[in-house]
Amino acid sequence: MKTQVVIVGAGPSGLLLGALLHKAGIDNIIVERQTPEYVLGRIRAGILEQVTVDLLRDVGVGAGVDTGGTIHHEIDLVFKNKRYPIPVSQLTSGKVVTAYGQTEVTHDLMTQRTELGLPSFYSADEVDLHDIESKTPRVSFSKDGRRQEISCELIAGCDGFHGVSRKHIPTHLLKEFERVYPFGWIGVLADVPPVSPHAIVYANSERGFALCSMRSMTRSRYYLQCPLSDKVDEWSDERFWDELKLRLDPELSNKLITGTSIEKSIAPLRSYVAEPMRHGQLFLAGDAAHIVPPTGAKGLNLAATDVKYLSEAMIEFFNEKSNAGIDNYSERCLKRIWRAERFSWWLTSLMHRFPDTGEFGQKIQEAELEYLVNSQALSTSLAENYVGLPLDFGS
Ligand code: APR
Ligand code: PHB
Repeated sequence: MKTQVVIVGAGPSGLLLGALLHKAGIDNIIVERQTPEYVLGRIRAGILEQVTVDLLRDVGVGAGVDTGGTIHHEIDLVFKNKRYPIPVSQLTSGKVVTAYGQTEVTHDLMTQRTELGLPSFYSADEVDLHDIESKTPRVSFSKDGRRQEISCELIAGCDGFHGVSRKHIPTHLLKEFERVYPFGWIGVLADVPPVSPHAIVYANSERGFALCSMRSMTRSRYYLQCPLSDKVDEWSDERFWDELKLRLDPELSNKLITGTSIEKSIAPLRSYVAEPMRHGQLFLAGDAAHIVPPTGAKGLNLAATDVKYLSEAMIEFFNEKSNAGIDNYSERCLKRIWRAERFSWWLTSLMHRFPDTGEFGQKIQEAELEYLVNSQALSTSLAENYVGLPLDFGS
């Protein structure tokens, strides 16, 4: 087989890149290790910046987010059992974020790709990349016991943190930056009305961090900071709801409607960046190149902007026969990535209980939170990062 771009991975990065390239008339094939059902079964983030919503509209799948998304103008911070609204829209000349699940984004893109009849190979085993330093790289894989190979001009490594693509950048050229946090998040999805439909709530409590989010007016998503050693089985629904109530302010705690969980999982928190994001004809995008702790809701949005930049570079390569975009891709992306890494690290540090910082650390957190909710300057900084810094920021 032959195509212009092979995309490894059918998460949001791979699917969105496929849609953007197709719109520009560039042929692409997606190779994904899992089944479509498995990919759609993963519950992940749910807050979209305006640039991400615009990209979905641009490729023609905006109807889902436009009808199913909930626009938010505010986030709330809770500390010392009191809730403080941060009017993010007011502080950013009207910018908003939209609550719409990554699962739904993936579903919308996957459905469109199937309807357009664009080629995708799911359940592909032993995916491997070859000759990435040449002008004719190849991707091979096994499907139904048969080995197959696709030759192409460019490869997009959109295969997430545990994917195969990043491993093809020689170790002496790859620099990795990492911080692993000493706690995880347990997340629960439940078909109950959200406790705070107009604002995402971030709580710093002496019992640990808590987050109230939503997928729709009838589906909520909640998270609690928990020890990394905890197992999902140790968290009955009842224990989860009781603990969440203890970490919220009294008003929200009384309003919380509980129910049976439809998904429950524990995830570690990590900050990670791999540099550079290109080697030869291979380009990394999304979680394959970087991870942020979910506190700032930046993971999916960063993946979307990587892919926007990558599609522009690839379009320039094929349609204008210019290498300028692909040569600049890694540097251009990394600027935005490090800004989001900084913001996610900062909000994580501010909102969680750290086992090793003691009472001094807690006093500093309280002082900063008090400063934040009373200072227009610091609230604006939080707001402008939360809604997403402009695409051309600082350039
Ligand atoms: N070959 C082919 N596909 C692979 C391989 C492989 N060797 N390894 C992994 N994959 C697939 C995974 O099964 C997954 O479907 O690549 C896809 C990567 O998808 P994601 O992990 O969702 O990564 P990405 O598309 O970059 O999306 C980033 O996901 O984790 C969240 O917070 C993150 O919201 C952000 C988003
Ligand atoms: C979510 O809705 O899953 C969510 C919201 C905000 C975050 C992280 C996750 O910061």
